[in-house]
Amino acid sequence: MICLTIVLIALIAALFYVYFTWNFDYWKKRGVEGPKPKPFIGSYPGMFSKTTHMVDDYERIYRSYKDKERFVGVFNLRDPQLLITDPKLGRDILVANFKNFHDNTLSKLVNREQDPLFSEHPFIISGADWKTTRQMISPALAGNRLKAYYPIILQTCEKLKKHLSKVCKSPPKEGVDAKELSKMFTLDIIAAGIYDVDSENFTDKHPTEMFKITEGLFNQNLFFLFYSTLISMFPKLMSVFHVSFFDYKVGKYFTKVLDQSAKRKEKSGVLGQDFLSFLMELEKRNPMTRSKMTAHTMSFLIDGFDTTACLITNVLLYIARNPEVQEKIIQESEDNIDENGSPTLETINDLKYLDAVFHEAYRVLPPVLFYSKICTEKIEIERKDGSKFLIEEGVECVIPNLSYQKDEHYFENPDVFDDERLIEDGVLKKLKNEGLLMPFGDGPRACMGMRLATLELKAFLIETVRNFKVSVNKKTRIDNKIDPNLFIGCLDGGVWLDFEPRKKDL
Ligand code: HEM
Repeated sequence: MICLTIVLIALIAALFYVYFTWNFDYWKKRGVEGPKPKPFIGSYPGMFSKTTHMVDDYERIYRSYKDKERFVGVFNLRDPQLLITDPKLGRDILVANFKNFHDNTLSKLVNREQDPLFSEHPFIISGADWKTTRQMISPALAGNRLKAYYPIILQTCEKLKKHLSKVCKSPPKEGVDAKELSKMFTLDIIAAGIYDVDSENFTDKHPTEMFKITEGLFNQNLFFLFYSTLISMFPKLMSVFHVSFFDYKVGKYFTKVLDQSAKRKEKSGVLGQDFLSFLMELEKRNPMTRSKMTAHTMSFLIDGFDTTACLITNVLLYIARNPEVQEKIIQESEDNIDENGSPTLETINDLKYLDAVFHEAYRVLPPVLFYSKICTEKIEIERKDGSKFLIEEGVECVIPNLSYQKDEHYFENPDVFDDERLIEDGVLKKLKNEGLLMPFGDGPRACMGMRLATLELKAFLIETVRNFKVSVNKKTRIDNKIDPNLFIGCLDGGVWLDFEPRKKDL
């Protein structure tokens, strides 16, 4: 009996081994160089150790191969992937050859039927469905709607200032958690912008139920990582496990928020400029279920809350480390504010120095660490020696943008934050065209909320820096280690800041 069990275990182990390794000659057969993959791990050991972030694996491989070829053959567990080492090729994947790389890898991991709340996010929708959804939703973030967001942003800035003045009266020893502060700010704006509700983050009620639930949305990353690893090993399991990205309670809560807000609007007969009103207008022409409406609002909530807060936090970190940058921001904003002390919607876009600062902070510590696209239609690309190489349908292509941003070949002293590096006219456009700095992506799938996020970020920084001196609390680590447990680029251990009022009466 014992012998039989041992034989059985050995057989299962052998089957697993074969399953995990039989594909390992995929790139060799096609003449593509790459690091030797490890059984059960593939090319990314860091992904499992959790001591480093997955992008550290990308970085290691990128550095070893970037001078040899425009791409490297790697394996995500057992799946062949191409890691793109030429930024120009990376940008072609997003822009010029978009039709061959239409979909995001994440779309393979989300079952839209089992995950109704995540189902309408353009990021995970594929094929023709994506195009229809994007066309339908994009007017919600265009010109006049964006104008309606601006007063909300300014009101939230005022609340932020009052909150920080209060904090300064008895400053916490460990400093202020910059990510939490940024999230309070972004949630206040996005909840008003989506549902026309006050989420009351800058009150004594903080952390409110909405804050806690919205934060909880992003706390499942480790579980989702485990699930997505399993699904990428055994794709058929997706229909067996009913795993959704969002917790059931999150869906229930936001359906309630939406219902209450929709009822208020129906009762008053007045639709505003918020996203829910936009959907309710749309519904008159295109009938839409409540759950679909909730799903659309969730997609704005996901992007408008965490990614934007992460960027604000990362920029705050660098301006706190560089007090002279704060003086320069104040100087530039002085010439561009109205009688209420705020920049107008027109002038805020012209703040070139602030633009350079936030792009530079993005370059050194970006929330978006890589892009991952699926080849949806085979395509021939050029190799370094001018010969052709065929990428087959289904192959994933990873664009490691952080590796480009930290490459001394493209940026002198790449680890140094240099506020003046990106200030020259035309430099941001040039870097974007070369695929070297694309904070909001590029091409048909570029970020829909770019203008909103930029407005929020700039307004936050101007309000804070004009009123407070910002410095780094010693609880913040001094290197730039990225939190290995998160998908987006945040400093491990958090960013902790001290604020000191610039005027006595604040
Ligand atoms: C600083 C904050 C933000 C950053 C850095 C950011 C960045 C990005 C990036 C890099 C993409 C992917 C492009 C691609 O797949 O090729 C994206 C997609 C997207 N973003 Fe943002 N984003 C931010 C904020 C926002 C906000 C505030 C919203 C809306 C309220 C938003 C809505 C979207 C949507 C809907 C997509 C999917 C577009 C598509 O696949 O068609 N984002 N974003």
